[in-house]
Amino acid sequence: MRLDVVTIFPEYLDPLNVSLVGKARARGQLGVHVHDLRDWTYDRHNTVDDTPYGGGPGMVMKTEPWGEALDTVLADGYEGGAHQPALIVPTPSGRPFTQELAVHLSGRPWLIFTPARYEGIDRRVVDEYATRMPVYEVSIGDYVLAGGEAAVLVVTEAVARLLPGVLGNAESHRDDSFAPGAMANLLEGPVYTKPPAWRGREIPDVLLSGHHGKIARWRRDEALRRTTEYRPDLIERCDPKAFDKKDREMLSILGWEPDPEGEPCGRFWRRTGGVEQ
Ligand code: ADE
Repeated sequence: MRLDVVTIFPEYLDPLNVSLVGKARARGQLGVHVHDLRDWTYDRHNTVDDTPYGGGPGMVMKTEPWGEALDTVLADGYEGGAHQPALIVPTPSGRPFTQELAVHLSGRPWLIFTPARYEGIDRRVVDEYATRMPVYEVSIGDYVLAGGEAAVLVVTEAVARLLPGVLGNAESHRDDSFAPGAMANLLEGPVYTKPPAWRGREIPDVLLSGHHGKIARWRRDEALRRTTEYRPDLIERCDPKAFDKKDREMLSILGWEPDPEGEPCGRFWRRTGGVEQ
């Protein structure tokens, strides 16, 4: 996979040299090219922004540097044998970046990122390149960052770990929280390693029992407990067929009830005043 990033802060992308992404790069599984947008400015101040039409606060990134930068990146990439580019535009007004989108993007051969600063990029840039390639405007969460570079790091890491051969263990992402296609997306529960006692804290006995069935059940219960606490919306969205008898017992303890109207396939909803865990 080839990645291009055009930014006014190339050094912000230095973390792409370390850890999982850095190793994938060193192994040749990932080709990463970071470009300085200001290389495509020609005035004394290397201006990349201007005041917004219609007024209002902040500045808007100008069309010309982005247009020239993207034309050059595209020409270089095609010349180097890359194909089927997709443009990834980080923006708080984008579609939510999810594991499902990460899986989808991991199947594409070439991603070009355009992290913006200020109030964003002149809309005509996205509109122009959308005529030539798929464009994904993505938000990494409901908060506003000072720029899209951190979002590029997030998306890159989520995508890179899905590439064949990048994670040591091929099964490592089968059990990911949010693995798409799973009937139930639950948050993963707690994990422990040696020593068995630390500062007077022991690990749950079941994990030492060697009983795989009981361990799997305990993990599932912990996942249901944690999801209830932090992401009840995930339980509400679950296909009820995903829950077996033991799940339903645990869900009941946690205050969930199957929707009586929807039987046999109704979603779960939470009793008010359910057991606080
Ligand atoms: N740029 C600023 N905030 C952002 C967000 N939440 N997601 C993606 N890009 C952004």
